[in-house]
Amino acid sequence: MSTSSRGAVAFAGLVLATLLGCGAEPPATTPDATETPEPAKTPASFGFGRPADPALVAEADIDVRFDGDGLPTGAGDAATGEALYETRCVACHGAELEGNPALGVRPLVGDIRHAVNNLPFAPPLFAYIRRAMPLDAPGSLGDDEVYALVAFLLERAGVLDLAGQPLDAEALAAVSMPNRETFFITKGVATTVPAAPAP
Ligand code: HEC
Repeated sequence: MSTSSRGAVAFAGLVLATLLGCGAEPPATTPDATETPEPAKTPASFGFGRPADPALVAEADIDVRFDGDGLPTGAGDAATGEALYETRCVACHGAELEGNPALGVRPLVGDIRHAVNNLPFAPPLFAYIRRAMPLDAPGSLGDDEVYALVAFLLERAGVLDLAGQPLDAEALAAVSMPNRETFFITKGVATTVPAAPAP
């Protein structure tokens, strides 16, 4: 098709549209912008899968918020935690919690840029250990065992002195972490600001 005939077709289309438009009735009602659209109709079943088993959902529903919301019942003391550490954690994290550079494991305590001392809130320590540790058998620790391990780690980090008392959800949520005021996120990377020099 030549350029001129393409132009003629386009012009004819415009004329036709104008003519048809002139005869059209105006819409009976103006659509209301605030009107909620009809919800999409979803079928009751797609014909595959099965209803979620509440027991499986409960098993996976183990998230814990920074403020302690979601912590389970249970408790554990630091001495029990130390014994557990010796059997379940020491191989990778070291006798003095010093880590193991060969395995890429950083120290668990001691430096505000690391692990326990780095966290601005304590409950995520529980959540992390319960979900991910020990690395060779994640999810194998009971809630009391995780409380005991957290009690041990917080004591070794110098954050808490439980004096033999067990750590539970309430006590864990109330812990004031050393990095609470100095922890911030910059460009997606959690970091710390150096402590202000003493006056
Ligand atoms: C098979 C090796 C292995 C075992 C066993 C193990 N861990 Fe870990 N753990 C790791 C590695 C690897 C990391 C990730 C590296 C890191 O962050 O230092 C890690 C990270 C952690 C962290 C977070 C450290 C951080 O810097 O944020 C904690 C807390 C922790 N482990 C606790 C435990 C506890 C408690 C146990 C025992 C119940 C345990 N781990 C057993 C290998 C192990």
